[in-house]
Amino acid sequence: MIPPLPPTITWLGAHDGHLELLDQTLLPHERRVLVVRRVDEVIEAIQGLRVRGAPAIGVAAAYGLVLGVREQVPLPSAFLETVRAVATALVRARPTAVNLAWAIERCLAAVREVPTLEHLFAAAQQLHRDEEQMSRRLGEHGRLLVQPGSTVLTHCNTGRLAAMGDGTALAVLFAAARAGVPFRVLADETRPLLQGARLTALELAAAGIPVQLLVDGAGPGLIARGEVQLVLVGADRIARNGDFANKVGTYPLALACAAHGVPFYCVAPSSTFDLQLADGSGIPIEERDATEVTHLAGQRIAPTGVGARNPAFDLTPGRLVRGFVSDRGVLQPPFDAGIKAVGAGGR
Ligand code: MRU
Repeated sequence: MIPPLPPTITWLGAHDGHLELLDQTLLPHERRVLVVRRVDEVIEAIQGLRVRGAPAIGVAAAYGLVLGVREQVPLPSAFLETVRAVATALVRARPTAVNLAWAIERCLAAVREVPTLEHLFAAAQQLHRDEEQMSRRLGEHGRLLVQPGSTVLTHCNTGRLAAMGDGTALAVLFAAARAGVPFRVLADETRPLLQGARLTALELAAAGIPVQLLVDGAGPGLIARGEVQLVLVGADRIARNGDFANKVGTYPLALACAAHGVPFYCVAPSSTFDLQLADGSGIPIEERDATEVTHLAGQRIAPTGVGARNPAFDLTPGRLVRGFVSDRGVLQPPFDAGIKAVGAGGR
């Protein structure tokens, strides 16, 4: 029996309180909650993947904005400029997930109306609650995709650790399990940082959902052999035509599903849709440090002198997607009109 995890993100107290983040880099073996009182600590936590997953980094950044502005003790006339300066630093923390910029923009819009720290804090809290609500709706809209007796393959971590509430793609699985549907999950380990092995397996096992790990290269072969009935993934940014960025290794799964007629669905809240992008070509793909690939658990695994490329995400064309499970329902192709409506609701 796995004991329940502490919350991913908690704010304790009023606007003069502090943030608590569950350090995801230490899971599954150690459960350490970080007490965070400064914006530079929030930025470090986002960049170091102590807090990670598109909706979760948006919520953490919103609270980071409160902390950063509070540190400045601004004159009332400089308040908005202070908020904007802190916002710029936070948005730069990670480039791919649009949820981060979306969360910061929502908070900025709130303080443009009422420029006080209290109002900024209220906006961050509201955003946190909205993300929880959206997660619940993702589960409800998506759970009928999971057929009794099926095998569902998922990639990276899209659960309670990656988003508020029940997460995104995993929210669908938790909702199906609560509804009594029997199914099993194959979770990609998700090299190089092993979000699937360390986090997804932990969350599913804790919920009593049967789960087995796969090395990332195994998924397409099992899809081809008819051993997978559904692939569910999350997203970090979705363009208007349905092209989307998600954890590196998502695209080969989409290709295999398209080649073998297996349904491939992406599950994401309104905060992940970027209406400013007509297609995926404008999505910035984060390149992380090569040592994440050349080293494993602090040990060098590649020969000395050999470097590595480390794109953290890849781009899946919308034409390979069977549907998007959004908090406003399941979108079918062609996606433009549906995505416009969902994305506008999140703005
Ligand atoms: O680098 P990470 O761990 O933040 O990447 C997370 C993912 O790619 C998730 O699939 C994505 O954020 C969508 S689900 C919350």
